[in-house]
Amino acid sequence: MEADPRAELAAIAASLRAYLEWQRDSGASGIPRGKRAPAVAAQATAPNVAPEPRAPDPPEPRTPRPLAAPVSLSLPPAPLDPFPEVVASRPAARPLTPPAARRSLEVIAADAASCTRCGLCASRTRPVFSRGDGKARLCFVGDAPGAEEDAAGRPFVGPAGQLLDRMIRAMGLDPERDVYVCNIVKCRPPEGHKTTAVETAACIPFLHEQLEAVAPKVIVALGNTAVGALLGGSAGITKLRGEWKLYKGRTLVMPTYHPAYLQRPGPQQQGAKRDAWEDLRKVMKELNLELPQKDA
Ligand code: URA
Repeated sequence: MEADPRAELAAIAASLRAYLEWQRDSGASGIPRGKRAPAVAAQATAPNVAPEPRAPDPPEPRTPRPLAAPVSLSLPPAPLDPFPEVVASRPAARPLTPPAARRSLEVIAADAASCTRCGLCASRTRPVFSRGDGKARLCFVGDAPGAEEDAAGRPFVGPAGQLLDRMIRAMGLDPERDVYVCNIVKCRPPEGHKTTAVETAACIPFLHEQLEAVAPKVIVALGNTAVGALLGGSAGITKLRGEWKLYKGRTLVMPTYHPAYLQRPGPQQQGAKRDAWEDLRKVMKELNLELPQKDA
């Protein structure tokens, strides 16, 4: 069957438009030009070399040539990474997922609401997805919902959540409007059961998608489970807290103590609270939030 050149041209135009949009969404501010032609580059590197004497031009061929070479309308294979220099110089915080592959928070939440990927679906009342602003620059990540969260369908509403809210207010932020709060695992583990590696592995794709959609500037990882799941490795929170890390190589993470730990009665908690506040002050500085006078 004869190909329709107009249809092929339209397909090329559509592909080019989609490619340019993807470049724009990835942060490229322009289309880099190709490298200079090799002949120009060679002249530039050897300015004093006398040109070789030119051989006389060969005689014109006698057989008539076609007026124009046949034009192929099929698309050339896409280069793997056509503009590596643009990608390398792009600010680290931009996610590189093509927009078409990114799901909205509402769609991810609806997916999580009917999730049966692990055994926790049998005992939960409902999955607990998030609270706060889905466009916040600051995201707090805990481990898993407790009984109050399971009943309410919102993370951090029990005693640990009340302390978390006080910590957020101490930063001068509104816990509902200025931050996004979620957990590594969305369903409540039964009483006394610590989340397992299998449950975490089943659930963490939701969190990766959530963080991609929110695209916060800073993530505060609360406690060992959150730090381990976000950053990998086996180092504990006492060792990691207070030092900036990177999630997926591009989003700042500040590991700090979980509010449930800070609430426990014990001799270490006073110092741990001071440490946690120091960690949050680093976050405030990074986000250009005003430090309280006595802390500035
Ligand atoms: N602890 C968490 O880690 N998350 C909650 O939602 C509640 C308590």
